[in-house]
Amino acid sequence: MIIIIGAEKGGVGKSQVAFNLAAYIATQQKVSDGKKKRPARVMLVDTDTQRTSSKWGALRDANSPLPFRVMEKIANPAPEIVQLAEDYDAVVVDVGARDYAGLADLARIADLWIAPTRVGQGDLMSSLEMATALNTVHSKHKRGHIPLCFLVNAVPGAWNSTEGQDAIEALEGALPTGKVLKSTIRDRRVWRDAHKLGRHIFEMPPATREKAEDEFLTAIAEAFEAYPQS
Ligand SMILES: Nc1ncnc2c1ncn2[C@@H]1O[C@H](COP(=O)(O)OP(=O)(O)OP(=O)(O)O)[C@@H](O)[C@H]1O
Ligand SMILES: [Mg+2]
Repeated sequence: MIIIIGAEKGGVGKSQVAFNLAAYIATQQKVSDGKKKRPARVMLVDTDTQRTSSKWGALRDANSPLPFRVMEKIANPAPEIVQLAEDYDAVVVDVGARDYAGLADLARIADLWIAPTRVGQGDLMSSLEMATALNTVHSKHKRGHIPLCFLVNAVPGAWNSTEGQDAIEALEGALPTGKVLKSTIRDRRVWRDAHKLGRHIFEMPPATREKAEDEFLTAIAEAFEAYPQS
């Protein structure tokens, strides 16, 4: 399974979603191996010249290895990702800035494409532009349709702020292709604290991670439901 985390806009949470999704699959999903079940084998591919995902793990306690592997592949990553998917149960790809041809190359091999966005007008417009670009390459996908979903991330403000819902509606009203997840992820300090420590969210103290973890898992479950994997 190839899961691409890609968006044109910077700072929307691509690396955070990629790193934590890799951790979720590696620590919480089991796959059948003959009669037994074993933890899923996961590779996180960092295609970003900034190497945020690769550097994330370097911040953690050296005695505590990550539950997944990380590799960097910046130039022309698609063929290698397809190859890796033969050996790993999940290949999660953190997509850095790319031209539309580069995005299209990745879109055609994705089993799931999660595009994080923030709620700002610039973020929403960038999401629409990416969806418009990807809308032209559906026919190149193995299933004839790119499994694209937008995830509204880092929603600011109080619990009763409508900014998340407003962003969902704005996207839904204008998107030429793809789905918008109903579940949003709020701006919560624990995400930044986890990054500082090189940890994934499931390693943070239960009292501080509970809400963030719940929002993340709900969004991920919705994405998999939107595009079930056979
Ligand atoms: N829901 C959230 N709550 C709090 N902080 C968040 C949230 N989502 C992202 N952040 C923070 O925002 C910053 C940018 O996130 P991240 O690096 O994942 O974005 P990105 O899209 O990969 O950026 P880039 O384009 O630079 O690669 C990080 O410090 C991250 O911890
Ligand atoms: Mg990044």
